[in-house]
Amino acid sequence: MDTQTHWEKIYTEKAPNAVSWYRPHLETSLALIEKAAAGISASVIDVGGGESTLVDDLLAHGYESITVLDISQTAIDANKKRLGKASQRVHWLAADITKVELEPSVYDVWHDRAVFHFLTSPADRLAYVHQVTRAMKPGGNVIVSTFGPEGPTKCSGLEVVRYDAESLHQEFGMRFRLLDSCKELHHTPFGTVQQFLYCLCRIE
Ligand SMILES: C[S@@+](CC[C@H](N)C(=O)[O-])C[C@H]1O[C@@H](n2cnc3c(N)ncnc32)[C@H](O)[C@@H]1O
Repeated sequence: MDTQTHWEKIYTEKAPNAVSWYRPHLETSLALIEKAAAGISASVIDVGGGESTLVDDLLAHGYESITVLDISQTAIDANKKRLGKASQRVHWLAADITKVELEPSVYDVWHDRAVFHFLTSPADRLAYVHQVTRAMKPGGNVIVSTFGPEGPTKCSGLEVVRYDAESLHQEFGMRFRLLDSCKELHHTPFGTVQQFLYCLCRIE
């Protein structure tokens, strides 16, 4: 099954709160975005946003330039339905982050929770880093969250790569300056606990 079909199947079959990565709110992501953004006019992209309520929280905080990208059209449609009229204030992109042609130098803040770790092939990781480097404004901030060293080896039936701050930073290279990192124990809706890592880097 290809990547897109996999995720369409997940979002067609499962309720938003019936997936292991569900949280009512992505508090750590929001706090890091608040730290990374110069203000509410910052242009923010949530890569692989899924059906998370981060976009709702960004809108509630007044962010004026929000893009949500996901490979699943079903997830994007569910967000639009949940948000109603407010969804018109968001730019939606149904695309594969390793393949899409993003506008160059447009984003101030890049956020990804639990997407990069699915890229098990070096070529896909390289394509992802190329996208970040191209789409971000110089001096922009990049927040990437993956499973940590003690996190699960699989998610949603797919293999993942686990990272610590150093190995994740290495994937992005020296143009990215590591500003902050933290770990979080995520309690899944099924009562299990998963270690997540969050890194905040600035593109020099
Ligand atoms: C584990 S979920 C995380 C969703 C959300 N970020 C969160 O934390 O609730 C991974 C998400 O990445 C999306 N995804 C997976 N591979 C992708 C790709 N190559 N390009 C864009 N989105 C992708 C999936 O559709 C899914 O919504």
